[in-house]
Amino acid sequence: MFAVTLLLAAILGAAVWLVIHNAQRAVSEEMQASIALAGDLVDNTIRRDDDALGAARRLSEIGHLRHLCLSLIERRGASPSGGCTNPESAGAPAWFAALTRPETLPERRLMVAPDHAMVILADPDDEIAEAWQDTRGLLALLVVFYLATIAVVYRLFGRALVPVRRIDAALARIEHGDYGIRLPRFSLPEFDGIAAQFNHMAAALDAAQHENRRLREHSLRIQEDERHNIARELHDELGQSLTAIRADAAGILARGDRLPAGVAESAQAIAAVAGRIYDQTRLMMRRLRPPGLDELGLDAALEDHVASRQRSHRDVSLAYTGCDRLADVPTAVAIHVFRLVQEALTNALRHGRPSRIDITVGLEAGRLRVDVRDDGDGFDSQVCRPGVGLSGMAERIDLLGGQLQVDSRRRHGTHIHADIPLA
Ligand SMILES: Nc1ncnc2c1ncn2[C@@H]1O[C@H](COP(=O)(O)OP(=O)(O)OP(=O)(O)O)[C@@H](O)[C@H]1O
Ligand SMILES: [Mg+2]
Repeated sequence: MFAVTLLLAAILGAAVWLVIHNAQRAVSEEMQASIALAGDLVDNTIRRDDDALGAARRLSEIGHLRHLCLSLIERRGASPSGGCTNPESAGAPAWFAALTRPETLPERRLMVAPDHAMVILADPDDEIAEAWQDTRGLLALLVVFYLATIAVVYRLFGRALVPVRRIDAALARIEHGDYGIRLPRFSLPEFDGIAAQFNHMAAALDAAQHENRRLREHSLRIQEDERHNIARELHDELGQSLTAIRADAAGILARGDRLPAGVAESAQAIAAVAGRIYDQTRLMMRRLRPPGLDELGLDAALEDHVASRQRSHRDVSLAYTGCDRLADVPTAVAIHVFRLVQEALTNALRHGRPSRIDITVGLEAGRLRVDVRDDGDGFDSQVCRPGVGLSGMAERIDLLGGQLQVDSRRRHGTHIHADIPLA
């Protein structure tokens, strides 16, 4: 559109230039012709008169004629004083006069007597005014034509570009992952064909996205189920066996002095190793399945998790704010929220060197809002490539149909915010 406007403006400019150029040429030719004609007439009149100087004086008293002035001067090289302008001239606008006025005005000198000359000077003002009268209508017509053409072109282009704009907007939506968008039918067959192809592509992408989502959901569910099973096995099998080993060792030690030399020490060592393995196993179980999540719900599980992290990071102040109603959050959602807080907390402690971390989880108008805010080093998301942790968070929240926002700036801490619908 801009190019078309520019082209039309260039055509208008050329037409205006041509009109003004013609006007300038007409003014110049008219000046030349007037000076030549007046010169011949004045010359004839003076020559025929016996008193040439007297005739010249009489003629000079006429002063200003159409397009020219007559003046009698006394010395050969002198110029007439005051130039030649008609005060009654109707006048043209200054810009038009400036563009059409000839650069050098013609003049003619006729020697009347040895020390007197008759000077005929050109006055272009009348001619310029006439040229303006002739030209202004044409110029106005050109401007009106230009504006009307621009209006028509804009309207036609606007209509013709509607499908292009809609296709462009639809492609932008696809670029942002909105595969549900579809284009309407267009009257122009070419655009209609493109719309049909576009809709076909969007439908294929939509189906692929759904399938992808389903698979991711499935794999996360399997992962959590598997972790759950391993935690239960660890508890039921390894935990029980370790408890039995520790009980046996305690039984041996209970015999006291009746033990052969060295047996008591060995039993003590067995009990100590079994105790360490038991502690490690409990830690692994906690990581595999948050304790209390299934029985007590999200709030209790998060409170317990934050308290446990606080015990191992005494130099950082951790503050958890939840609410009782979180107990009603379904476990399928709760496990993802728990993992999100777990990873956000780990990241803050591992990368951020914060002095304080605030964790807030609340329910508001059927939406679960999670905030993990630290006052640590922060990071530049443009420079920092997301690892498994951040992309895992995004994936979990996406599967829940929510939105994840990661705000972080160097030296200004990090804020992780998730907004999840519960319906
Ligand atoms: N709270 C935070 N404070 C400072 N930097 C952070 C924070 N959270 C994330 N980062 C930066 O973002 C990067 C990506 O984090 P992400 O959790 O995705 O990966 P990671 O923690 O490096 O590894 P992992 O895959 O084990 O989680 C981190 O390496 C770290 O540089
Ligand atoms: Mg991480």
